[in-house]
Amino acid sequence: MAYKIPFISLATDAKRSKVDTILGEIRKLFERGDFILGSKVEEFEHAFANYCGVGHAVGVNSGLDAILLSLRVLGVGPGDEVITAPNSYLATAAAIALTGARPVFADVRLDFNLDPAEVEKRITSRTKAVIGVHLTGFPCEMEELSKICRARGIALLEDAAQAVGARFYRKKAGALGDIGCFSLHPLKNLHVWGDGGVITTNSAEIAKGLREQRNHGLVSRDVSDFFSYNSRLDSVQAIVALESLLEVDSVASVRRLNAEVYFDRLAKWVKLPSKGTSEVQPVFHVFQIRTEKRDRLKAFLESKGIETKIHYPVPIHLQPAANYLGYKAGDFPVCERLAGEILSLPVREGLSLEDLHEVCDAVDSFFSLSPSLAQSNTLPREQTV
Ligand SMILES: Cc1ncc(COP(=O)(O)O)c(C=O)c1O
Repeated sequence: MAYKIPFISLATDAKRSKVDTILGEIRKLFERGDFILGSKVEEFEHAFANYCGVGHAVGVNSGLDAILLSLRVLGVGPGDEVITAPNSYLATAAAIALTGARPVFADVRLDFNLDPAEVEKRITSRTKAVIGVHLTGFPCEMEELSKICRARGIALLEDAAQAVGARFYRKKAGALGDIGCFSLHPLKNLHVWGDGGVITTNSAEIAKGLREQRNHGLVSRDVSDFFSYNSRLDSVQAIVALESLLEVDSVASVRRLNAEVYFDRLAKWVKLPSKGTSEVQPVFHVFQIRTEKRDRLKAFLESKGIETKIHYPVPIHLQPAANYLGYKAGDFPVCERLAGEILSLPVREGLSLEDLHEVCDAVDSFFSLSPSLAQSNTLPREQTV
């Protein structure tokens, strides 16, 4: 179906001037021929480390690999446990499982992010790391999580895939834990033209280990210390990432302005996400509202040509892939409640003010003009999680 207001519109949101610059740089790359781990990858890594305010950045080929290689560099493996949120994108848990360790979930708060008290309850002698997820681009409670992890000698990672540029007090996402993991997927505020990822850290030792982890375990051209992956960021994608980095703050500013329209107009109908404060600044990778009438509202907006999404309708602990972990419905009540109520409205930078008001007008009509429509969800909660 062709939507009047699509949730995503990568082609129309791309700026022509940026595309021409990127194509010009790719032609130069072709002439230089340093396609693998070349000068553009290094340039992007330096620029990104500076942007996040950390000592090192290491480009890899996806957000999943960013987390997987980070756990591997910390020595996480079979017999270990890693605690994270059950409402993240499933790659967070997949990365833990792919090391051979056990993903352990802790419930979240109504702000969508890990509840530090729930994390603390799940720590055992096998816990090697905690992965805080800055879901929707809203920084999670890193100060509390740091205290908990530091006291027990547990590593704290950030899944910052949705949160590039988000601020938590004086620091940016990626500089808040021992290691920060980013996706450069085309839908992220900082993105490439395909798959990509990047890892941040202040530890030179971890950065060195990550460079080996992403490149066959090679410590020199011909010597590999351990068998590993080929998960390098391509030079072509590094060129795109460098251009995208120039715009990432303006992307976040436009998204914040777009969000303001929703904050102004929708408060009377639905529960809104936190705006943040001067200390905690989200980047609105996703603008997520909550309503018990979610399914009806989604269908109504769709009938008006407005596309919405749910991030994410099936929590990770209830995915078939997680069956072997033995979790069941009811284990994480806040996460499961959110899964039945959340709805992501379009917030991308290409939206016009008219588009945003059209979304708000449609939400107004749903709740005010069609009270019977708005009565309840079609699906009982059990079927939505
Ligand atoms: C929170 C989160 N973690 C991890 C990932 C995985 O990133 P990628 O798709 O680049 O592997 C994503 C991307 O969708 C994400 O949103």
